[in-house]
Amino acid sequence: TAHADRRIDAEGRCVLPGFVDSHSHLVFAGDRGDEFVARMAGRPYEAGGIRTTVNATRAATDEVLRAQMKRLTGEATRSGVTHQEIKSGYGLDVPTEERLCRLAGGLTDDVTFLGAHLVPAEYEGRADDYVDLVCGEMLAACAPRCRWIDAFCEVGAFDADQCRAVLEAGHAAGLGLRLHGNQLGPGEGVRLAVELGAASVDHCTYLTDADVEALAGSSTVATFLPATDFSTRQAYPDARRAIDAGVTVALATNTNPGSSNTTSMGFCIALAVRDMGMTVDEAVRAAALGGAEALRRDDLGRLAPGCRADAIVLEARSPVDFVYRPGVPLVGEVFVAGHTVFG
Ligand code: NIG
Repeated sequence: TAHADRRIDAEGRCVLPGFVDSHSHLVFAGDRGDEFVARMAGRPYEAGGIRTTVNATRAATDEVLRAQMKRLTGEATRSGVTHQEIKSGYGLDVPTEERLCRLAGGLTDDVTFLGAHLVPAEYEGRADDYVDLVCGEMLAACAPRCRWIDAFCEVGAFDADQCRAVLEAGHAAGLGLRLHGNQLGPGEGVRLAVELGAASVDHCTYLTDADVEALAGSSTVATFLPATDFSTRQAYPDARRAIDAGVTVALATNTNPGSSNTTSMGFCIALAVRDMGMTVDEAVRAAALGGAEALRRDDLGRLAPGCRADAIVLEARSPVDFVYRPGVPLVGEVFVAGHTVFG
């Protein structure tokens, strides 16, 4: 049957394509509220906090992890998200990474293997040995359950050579490429992602002119995660500069317990407009079509014949209210493939 065979009267309310959240770390256990409170008191965000979540996640049962994912995907749906990418990355050993990819696969067909999220404690001082494990046994266990491979290119995580090795191994295993880059400072991530033809490079908080130029001439999407910059008390990326240079941009939530504990795409849109120089239309487009482009999905992110009938109805006449009425639950109804999933 056709997906778009129902007629609904939205009674003057705003209808938008469902949001496509192309960056989330939903499979985890535990809480890092204390770390967040310390950060608000002035302590900087560091990649090392990931280990706290790794310990809790390794110790959690499948039931606990599934319940946590269900809670978060429920929230995401109510914020208007109709498709999510989900990453592994809080296991960092072969059995747990495989388990996280399997659990994520119960919720989405855009699962990303992120074994190269951080060097786990048992490999302290032996990062290259850990990279060999990621590229070898861990990739072999996870690749059949994934569409994508990702790595965290940052001081305190993995350098550009290590990320290159991971992404090249993933490509050889048939996976598409994504990269965390330029989050905590300038670095080589963006240019590496472009060089390797990655679908997306995510964060992009610190972009040099050369980074913007490289992105503009490429098919790599720059995905901004402004809820992260909010929660880590960083500067926001200059999206205006990237868009004016011709870069394709996306907005995503980066839901995770450390740097961005929110599922709200409306919040990301509000930040993008208030603090990143995007217009409301650009921000809404980046949250829907931009996310689809970052996932190389031509069936999502638009209200058009041939696309999945994923739509949201706002309790508002215009998406301006995402910014004008920040923090208010504006999403009244959500449809996935033509079926009501909320409202
Ligand atoms: O995208 N940057 C790397 N990973 C996550 C943070 C994960 C964490 O702090 O637990 C991010 O911000």
